[in-house]
Formats: sequence, C-alpha cells, structure tokens
Amino acid sequence: MEMAQIGATEKGGVCRLALTDLDRDGRDLFIKWCKDAGCTITVDQMGNIFARRPGKNNDLPPIMTGSHLDTQPTGGKFDGVYGVLAGVEVLRTLNDYGVETEAPVEVAVWTNEEGSRFAPAMVASGVFAGVFDLAYGLSRADLDGKTMGQELTRIGYAGSEPVGQHPVGAYFEAHIEQGPILEHETRTIGVVTHAQGQRWYEITLTGQEAHAGPTPMPIRKDALVGAAKIVTEVNRIGMSLQPFGRSTVGLMQVSPNSRNTIPGSVFMTVDFRNPNEEALTGMDRDLRAFTDKLARDSGLTIEVTQIWHSPVVTFHDKCVGAVRSATRRLGYSNMEIVSGAGHDACYINRVAPTGMIFIPCEDGISHNEVENATPDDCAAGGNVLLHAMIEAANA
Ligand code: GLV
Ligand code: MN
Ligand code: MN
Ligand code: MN
Repeated sequence: MEMAQIGATEKGGVCRLALTDLDRDGRDLFIKWCKDAGCTITVDQMGNIFARRPGKNNDLPPIMTGSHLDTQPTGGKFDGVYGVLAGVEVLRTLNDYGVETEAPVEVAVWTNEEGSRFAPAMVASGVFAGVFDLAYGLSRADLDGKTMGQELTRIGYAGSEPVGQHPVGAYFEAHIEQGPILEHETRTIGVVTHAQGQRWYEITLTGQEAHAGPTPMPIRKDALVGAAKIVTEVNRIGMSLQPFGRSTVGLMQVSPNSRNTIPGSVFMTVDFRNPNEEALTGMDRDLRAFTDKLARDSGLTIEVTQIWHSPVVTFHDKCVGAVRSATRRLGYSNMEIVSGAGHDACYINRVAPTGMIFIPCEDGISHNEVENATPDDCAAGGNVLLHAMIEAANA
C-alpha cells in the first residue's frame, strides 16, 4: 500500500509508467527497503535492479525472485508490484528467523515489463536473456520519441553491470493471476506450468485527407474506416478460436483528428495471444490476408509490421515441482494454470530454471485501477515463494 502511493490515482489505482520520475521513486523505495534488510544492490545497463542477500556459499549462483514496478496508465496496486514485494517479504522473513541459505537469495526489479510506454513488453528481461541486444533495448522509444536509454540516464538508473552477466541459479516469480480462473475454482495458488504465446503488431493506414462536406462518399480514402474494419476483424479472429484465442486493438492514433476532415492516416496496434503456437501463427495469417484484401479494395496503403513475438513458454519441471511441493506442504488449495499474461519469467526461463506462482485477484480484473487481491492470498503466495526459494537455495 505504501508503494501504491507512488503514482496513486483517484480511483484507487496506480499510474507509474516505466522510467518516469514516479518509476524512479518506486525504485528508490525498493532499494531503501532492501538495504534496510541488509542487501547489497547492483543495477545493470538496462536498469534491472538486483538486491542480494548473501548465503553460506557465495560462489553459488543466487536463487532469484522478482517482477516489475512499472504499471499500465490505468494500472492497479498489484500487477508486478506484488511479485517484487513478495520478494522483499522473503528477505525480511529469512532475516526474522535467522535463516542462512546455502546459495545467496536475490530480488530483481525488471525494467519496463508492461510495454505500455515502450514496446515491446518484457524488454529488459529479454535483453538479460539474450533475446534482444542491448542497443535494441536502449533504443526503444515512446510515442514522443524518448528512448529507454535517454530515460534511464535521466532518472539515474543506467547501471554499469553488463546485462545478462548476472548469474541465476533458479528464478521464481509470484504474480496475481490477472484472470478469473483461480477465483472461479476457489483455489488459493496457481502452479503455473506454461505461458501463452504473443504477437504484437503496428499497423499504419494511409488514405487521403479531404473535406468532410464536399467530398463524395464513393471516392473517399478514409483511413479510419479501414482501421475500424481491422478492429472488427481482429476481434473476429480471437472470437473464432474460443476458448483460447485473445485479440486486442488497444491503441489508435487518428490523424489529423479533426471533426470535419476525413482521416488521412491511422496508427494502431494489435495484440494476439494463444497458448498454441500453430494457432498463433494462424492468427497472423488471417490478419495479413484481411489487410491485403482491404488495401486492394479500399485504395488505402496498409503497412503491417510484427514488432514482437514471444513464443509459448513451458516453465522448468524442477521449479514447477518446487512450487507444487511447497504449496502442498503448506496445505493451500491449488491447481495447475497457464499464464494468460506475459511475465519477465517467460524470458528468464531461457537462461535459468524458472517457475511462477499465481494468486487470485478480485473478479479476475487487472490492467484496471480497481485491481485487488486479499491479504490472505498475498500472504499465501509469499509463503509458497519463500519455501520454494529455500528449497532451491539449499539444494
Ligand atoms: C503485460 O502486462 C502483458 O501481459 O500484456
Ligand atoms: Mn505484470
Ligand atoms: Mn501488466
Ligand atoms: Mn505482464
């Protein structure tokens, strides 16, 4: 709740966009809490922060947890933040009980998980995992043209540690589910086995600006009318693949955005998700077939660029097993679950054994200011995280 005051919105949510002054304030508070818990801090060139609690054998790679502090523009108090603070709670609990782990334990904050200010999502954990190179990560720009590299420097979080040079023995991430399944099934813990794949696109439609009065309907090249057809098709594609397909147009810029000028151009985004990689490829095919035909029929120029593909993820047996056995030992009701959202864990899984722990969120709502989770469920997820990490750190 204290972290949620940084960027607090009137409706009870949080707006703490990546690499803004508010993100810096959140990072500063996290570091203060970790230093108070006796940790040392390192920051890498992508601004990823690592808080380290030493173990008995500091030559062993650390057992790591973490998540992100950045939020959506109309974000809640829990998405990302919960996983970071569950990690801080693990540090404090180990201290309270005087537990010395064999391997060191670390809590990570990954830069720009949301992909809301800078696309794509999970970009800094992606650089860490070698999916993107550093130059690509630092050059991601927001809609005003400011780059991640410039903004990291401005807020004082352009660290010196080379990205990806940081060893990881195993990684666990706790997160709210962000969907309705656990609540509906009345289970406390989701043992996350997979994450669905995603493809992100940017589409630019170019037509012709003209006067809204004199220009006859049949000769118009209205970019927004084309965009509207794409929105409907994107929705149809997802709907045709139930219960699994997900398809969203979340951002659109209309130019010149004047009520009596026919729109000359539109910039829009598409977000496709599917737990089956082949089905995700089919969604891509459907979209491109539709926009090709639309361009031919309408006279609009339509440029479709896939800017990101995050394939379906299978989390590591050993970590999924550690989460499952910790959940059972602690006696929490549970079920296996596939993550609908993307998480930094999806990329860290490529460089270290990784697992995730989900807890329910109210009405399954996330990316919304009303996002909520109960203190009991938050504590349960933290306990599972603690026990899974102790097991891994002493293995
Ligand atoms: C990030 O929050 C995503 O899964 O879209
Ligand atoms: Mn998140
Ligand atoms: Mn999110
Ligand atoms: Mn996410």
